[in-house]
Amino acid sequence: MKSSRKKKWILGGVGIGALLGLAILAFDIRLKTVYYEVKSNKIEQEITIGLIADLHSCDYGPNQITLTDAIEQTKPDFLLLAGDIIDDDMPEQKAIEFLDWAGKNYPSYYVTGNHEYWTKQIERMRQIVRQAGVTVLEGETLALDINGQTIDLSGINDTEEKWWPKELEQAAASRHNDVFSILLSHRPEQIENYLPHQYDLITVGHAHGGQWRIPGLLNGLLAPNQGLFPRYAGGRYDFEKSVMIVSRGLARESTRIPRIFNRPEYVVIRVLPE
Ligand SMILES: [Fe+2]
Repeated sequence: MKSSRKKKWILGGVGIGALLGLAILAFDIRLKTVYYEVKSNKIEQEITIGLIADLHSCDYGPNQITLTDAIEQTKPDFLLLAGDIIDDDMPEQKAIEFLDWAGKNYPSYYVTGNHEYWTKQIERMRQIVRQAGVTVLEGETLALDINGQTIDLSGINDTEEKWWPKELEQAAASRHNDVFSILLSHRPEQIENYLPHQYDLITVGHAHGGQWRIPGLLNGLLAPNQGLFPRYAGGRYDFEKSVMIVSRGLARESTRIPRIFNRPEYVVIRVLPE
């Protein structure tokens, strides 16, 4: 009798321990760095891109040190900021700290997200970004010289900007042939509009990893503008001519619904010669 009771206690303890462990893993919102490799015959030397999306003015320590340290460790050639860096419902200070650091330390390029529009002060948002030394892209294509090779970077405003389809047309038309090309945008659900332009790489955010995930089973439960079981919640999506990388973003205390099995992420894309 005694030994069977002891067994029950042990099993109960193990069960509770396992549940606690699972809960700790599920609600873990420490920053992680996620790597992708994209191969291209338009590239002669490796290019490393740091992708930051959906910071939503969240707090990553004094002067955003947790985030900036993670970026420093990966030595990117440049940074892409895919919108919703500033939140409409949070103090701006933490976003400004990050933008100031990015503008000082790396060539950095930004496009707007919906939350910057929702501040109803979009020009002031752009001004904050520019003042930090970060380039704001609004339907243009820049020829970047990275390690002696040229690549094209296009950026477009969020769809809250009614001219965005024109911006996309204009940016795509000013690319150079045979040069590796990147489209920086906020929203993955617009992929059908991006694909005809045949960008080699499309970098976006907005979906927040679908907020809740079940590793190996469910890549996101709910995402803005995609609804339940979003197709483009986060990760890599390969199309015939293009690869789309969807960052799961950095938002944490800005959202009322917690992230589950969905740690905030800084994304590194290594573009390698084929
Ligand atoms: Fe967004």
